[in-house]
Amino acid sequence: MNYKADENRYQKIPYRRCGRSGIVLPIISLGLWHNFGDVDDFENGRKILLTAFDNGITHFDLANNYGPPYGSAEKNFGKVLKSDLKPYRDELIISSKAGYDMWSGPYGNFGSRKYLIASCDQSLKRMDLDYVDIFYHHRPDYDTPLEESMMALDQIVKSGKALYAGISNYPADRTAEAAKIMRELGTPLLIHQPKYSMFERWIEGDLINTLENAGIGAIVFSPLAQGLLTNKYLKGIPKDSRAGKEWGFLKREEVNQRIDKVKKLNEVATQRGQSLAQMAIAWVLRHPVVTSALIGASKVEHVMELIKVQDCLDFTDEEYNKIELILNS
Ligand SMILES: NC(=O)c1ccc[n+]([C@@H]2O[C@H](COP(=O)([O-])OP(=O)(O)OC[C@H]3O[C@@H](n4cnc5c(N)ncnc54)[C@H](OP(=O)(O)O)[C@@H]3O)[C@@H](O)[C@H]2O)c1
Repeated sequence: MNYKADENRYQKIPYRRCGRSGIVLPIISLGLWHNFGDVDDFENGRKILLTAFDNGITHFDLANNYGPPYGSAEKNFGKVLKSDLKPYRDELIISSKAGYDMWSGPYGNFGSRKYLIASCDQSLKRMDLDYVDIFYHHRPDYDTPLEESMMALDQIVKSGKALYAGISNYPADRTAEAAKIMRELGTPLLIHQPKYSMFERWIEGDLINTLENAGIGAIVFSPLAQGLLTNKYLKGIPKDSRAGKEWGFLKREEVNQRIDKVKKLNEVATQRGQSLAQMAIAWVLRHPVVTSALIGASKVEHVMELIKVQDCLDFTDEEYNKIELILNS
């Protein structure tokens, strides 16, 4: 108790500007999708959060349905805020989202004004916050007019419940349309949250250019492919890993399909003098439009290892080509 943050925390990690905005984010941010629900060990989650903050990670990413059960990650994060992080509230960027299944009936999912505004109110209550720093529409919804979802984000910001608005999982064309609507409403989109890793490269098509042109930053999620791009699965699937747990989203088949490439990538990382996890993070950060790599962690040691990525962020052409060959084999 009586947590006091490390005084040197802002010397420990670089920060990058998020698009054309006043906000900078640490090159690594921490997400609470897994490992912070009621099925998890609260004290372990608390330690991970405080270690992250002690190392300059100022940004914590949540969503209405992170858990399990839904809502429990926000509730548990609220508990850590209350016991430890509240004095540092103005040093934190806390985000939440709505867009996937959250509550029963026709109004607890997708992209209506009804859902987004009610969900934001619920998230604030669970975390016991007056506002979140970023509120996202979590995924595109083609049955709801885009104007309706964007006007809801705009209202959430203008009513002071969020400081900035973001979108997640939107393809390039819908992103450009959303950006235009939000600019006209006077609440420019701050950030886009797409999935991006060595195994998931869709943003390299049009999205990166769209974001650059619109002055929107990218925070890329699952840069470690949910733990696959680490040394965790090199010798099989550990019981306490995401692929080993009943409620984890990483499927055993995906691990088995990709493990040969993972082993080869691990050799490249070793030659670079870093771990595979560090190399996977450096690889997503090579694009200037990528403001932050949004990681998950089930142990304090994961955060400590990833923080060191800054020691080796650059790739030689030879290293980059070796990785391409492995990924395309
Ligand atoms: N917008 C969206 O639609 C969306 C979707 C998914 C995620 N997200 C966000 O992105 C965040 C991160 O996603 P993610 O958890 O899939 O990211 P990730 O960083 O790809 O995977 C995290 C997992 O990798 C393993 N790991 C991390 N560091 C490690 C290390 N140094 N050594 C060995 N293993 C390590 C841990 O797995 P074990 O648990 O097995 O130990 C950890 O839980 C989420 O929390 C959420 O905030 C957003």
